[in-house]
Amino acid sequence: MAAVKEPAQQIAELTARINHLNYQYYQNSVSEVSDIEFDGLLKQLQEIEEQFPELRQPNSPTQRVGGTITKSFKTVHHKWPMLSLSNTYSEEELREFDARVRKAIGEEVEYVCEQKFDGVAISLTYENGEFVQGATRGDGSRGDEITANVRTIHDVPLQVHGEGFPDLFEVRGEVFLPLQVFEQLNAEREEAGEQLLANPRNAASGTLKQQDSAIVASRKLGCFSYSFHASPNPFDTHAESLQAVQAWGFKVSDTWRKCQSIEAVLAYINEWESKRFELPIATDGVVVKVNSFALQEELGATAKSPRWAIAYKYASMSAATQLLGIKYQVGRTGAVTPVALLAPVLLAGTVVKRASVHNANEIERLDLRLGDTVFVEKGGEIIPKITGVDFSKRPADSQPILYPTACPACGTPLIRADGEAHFYCPNDEGCPPQIKAKLEHFISRKALNIDGLGPETIEQLYKQGLVRNAADLYDLTFEQLASLERMGEKSATNILNSLEKSKEAPYDRVLFGLGIRLVGSTVAKKLTEQLPDLEALRGATHEELLAIHEIGGRIAMSILDYFQNPEHVQVLERLKAAGLKFRSENTAPAMESEKLAGSTFVISGVFQSMSRDELQQLIISHGGKVVSSISAKLSFLVAGDKMGPAKLEKANKLGVRILSEDEFLEMIRA
Ligand code: IVH
Repeated sequence: MAAVKEPAQQIAELTARINHLNYQYYQNSVSEVSDIEFDGLLKQLQEIEEQFPELRQPNSPTQRVGGTITKSFKTVHHKWPMLSLSNTYSEEELREFDARVRKAIGEEVEYVCEQKFDGVAISLTYENGEFVQGATRGDGSRGDEITANVRTIHDVPLQVHGEGFPDLFEVRGEVFLPLQVFEQLNAEREEAGEQLLANPRNAASGTLKQQDSAIVASRKLGCFSYSFHASPNPFDTHAESLQAVQAWGFKVSDTWRKCQSIEAVLAYINEWESKRFELPIATDGVVVKVNSFALQEELGATAKSPRWAIAYKYASMSAATQLLGIKYQVGRTGAVTPVALLAPVLLAGTVVKRASVHNANEIERLDLRLGDTVFVEKGGEIIPKITGVDFSKRPADSQPILYPTACPACGTPLIRADGEAHFYCPNDEGCPPQIKAKLEHFISRKALNIDGLGPETIEQLYKQGLVRNAADLYDLTFEQLASLERMGEKSATNILNSLEKSKEAPYDRVLFGLGIRLVGSTVAKKLTEQLPDLEALRGATHEELLAIHEIGGRIAMSILDYFQNPEHVQVLERLKAAGLKFRSENTAPAMESEKLAGSTFVISGVFQSMSRDELQQLIISHGGKVVSSISAKLSFLVAGDKMGPAKLEKANKLGVRILSEDEFLEMIRA
């Protein structure tokens, strides 16, 4: 008869097995057993622990699910102070930082660049490889002890993996709520009619302070580790320590990079400015650290922050202020856009009084009410946007915002097309802001580039009843222009000369200038490449338009609609008579062969021997058709470098043939 194992031994064996499986799953993305089998092991361990509570280890993997209630968090002293980082928003200051560091050290320095994660700092203490304490930053020297809550975070090892670690060490990192979890949480809250969480950082911080660790476990927090502390420190460099802690089972974001110069640091910053939005966590900049620990020591720290590190922040900051009102603007295409009027607030160095709200859905999504305290953020775009509401500050008598049903400028009832977020004023020929905005678009630099005419002159010309559409501009006389306020004879002559010069503008710029909905400059170029003159465009059917690369159903419909309107046609005739160009100079490519007839192609990635446009022309000139989306009907995907993995996966899934650049060239040469 097999000997019955002692419960202590059973616990030890189960713990080791589960820890191993967890390490494989979370660090190496390997599932050695099925979920059911894993849950079975965990349940077995739980049962033994329930039977023999005195044998339960504080770092048992069963603690991941939480259940510990902490009434009030103990204060703990940090063995090494948790400093903050000095910040900069400018390249110049970053170069000054580098100059200071090099001056102090007297030689070139190696840096490590990391993402600046926008979460909550955490300190994790380990004794003999066991996780013994998790603490918040607090005031930097004392924080809250939140060990039970931290135990529920899978990215934090409860038992260090492998060996070679000091008896006592601390790892620090950033706890965060993954963006996806944040959005899901808010969706669930919305459905349940609960208050929404303002942003992922506040949500992570609030979660860590929950008294019931089971709630913490349910939130699926993540933690990226970014620093290591021990005395003596067994590593020479920060990079080595990152690699070691990763091997021990801590989660280290693989976004970090060693940089040999400030130029390399700047390249990293540029590279991540847009790439950071693909990460599962919010980031707001880059942390630059001197790599050598000895040099870090030499540089030292001020009372607040180390001299060996700096945070470069991307220009996006958030501030809270009051929503005073909503103004509705009517744009060139008749789209009605709400603009939030705010109590003035300082944001990233400028005073902000307005913010964009995009559309009616956004008002609903944010649940905006007049008088609310709102969060405004300034991202890459110039106009700040409202990102959330501080519901705790909502006045008791607040009223929902009622979206207007009629155009605020001309009173025409607004319409909203199926599936569209915007409401539109359909009175495009008679609604003053639409008329003026269309004229401003027509004269703008990317369109007809008419110098000397600006929004003020357009306003005057409109008021005097001299212009209502683009064609009217070409009927203006010297006397009419010279009689306008603040307009001298010289300016009037300049305007007439610019109007004359605009007749040389190529067809695609004229087409763009017409301001057809959804026809931006790229679409206008594509259209004029494939349909060489206005007659061809006017006569094109829905199918013919759709066959042009990057022209989708909505654009095709918008073009067809445009020509349905007799007033548009009349303006076009007048513009043509005035001498504007309505024919492409570079006509469609000559047909080379029919080799690709009947085949459809999607182009993705970048190519060695030609641009994407050249590749497209090549396909067309051999009788093929270029489409934009991958479907089971697609004949070929031409894959270049840096192609997105999602496209490749979809093509593989649907069994679409994938061609390399060389294979494609072979095909047309054959
Ligand atoms: S190192 C002495 N690395 O930024 C500074 N901090 O302002 C040690 N943070 O409290 C911190 N990402 O919460 C470091 N890759 C990163 C970071 C990072 C985010 C936060 C951290 C810290 C704050 C400092």
